[in-house]
Amino acid sequence: MGETKLSLVKDNRWSLHGMTALVTGGTRGIGHAIVEELAEFGASIHVCSRNQDDIDKCLQEWKNKGFNVTGSVCDVFHRDQRQTLMETVSSIFHGKLNILVNNAARYITKNMIDHTAEDISLILGTNFESCYHLSQLAYPLLKESGYGSIVSISSIASVKAHNVISAFSAAKGAMNQLTKNIALEWAKDNIRANAVAPGIVMTSLLESVLL
Ligand SMILES: NC(=O)c1ccc[n+]([C@@H]2O[C@H](COP(=O)([O-])OP(=O)(O)OC[C@H]3O[C@@H](n4cnc5c(N)ncnc54)[C@H](OP(=O)(O)O)[C@@H]3O)[C@@H](O)[C@H]2O)c1
Repeated sequence: MGETKLSLVKDNRWSLHGMTALVTGGTRGIGHAIVEELAEFGASIHVCSRNQDDIDKCLQEWKNKGFNVTGSVCDVFHRDQRQTLMETVSSIFHGKLNILVNNAARYITKNMIDHTAEDISLILGTNFESCYHLSQLAYPLLKESGYGSIVSISSIASVKAHNVISAFSAAKGAMNQLTKNIALEWAKDNIRANAVAPGIVMTSLLESVLL
């Protein structure tokens, strides 16, 4: 990967120069903003989403801004695609990853009683199991980097009950607890784990629900 221009490093006191990051769901919304923030601090980043055209468009924009970003298609719902994603990341970053951002998520709004088996599987698989499995897959790379960090994007709904998002809320609640377990188990490897629980942010996720 090329060197990030020093002029792009946002704040000399806080630099991610030489650091590598994977951001799932980096083509829109909060994930897109995270990519730009990390890149402005000098990190090299890999993103994934389900849409190649969106990835290509973002990569071109980021290249124009001088950011070091690569991308590949991965539907994080699928175990085999997660495996392929981490192999790609390992190859690009030479077996070392500093930051894993578990951001990609889906949203279903239905009364709890109306969630089908498929709904529950989709939401738990995409929003929680992916976080669990990607963290497992990333573990050797995070450890090898010598300074690893997992940031999982949870939700205020993980700690507060709202109508019509029971599966989503349960997945985010599980993410919170997993984060604590990872922090406990992997501190010895110099890997930190944190969850961030946003309130409402007007992204395409919410637009699809509200509009
Ligand atoms: N917006 C809010 O108010 C809010 C509040 C609390 C928490 N959050 C959390 O913040 C995170 C980001 O939300 P957002 O509002 O930024 O969502 P968003 O605007 O819908 O963006 C979601 C991103 O994830 C990708 N994605 C979705 N499903 C995917 C899958 N199965 N595999 C891979 N990529 C996938 C999307 O690309 P493709 O669709 O092309 O795959 C897109 O890049 C989520 O974890 C969400 O739960 C959001």
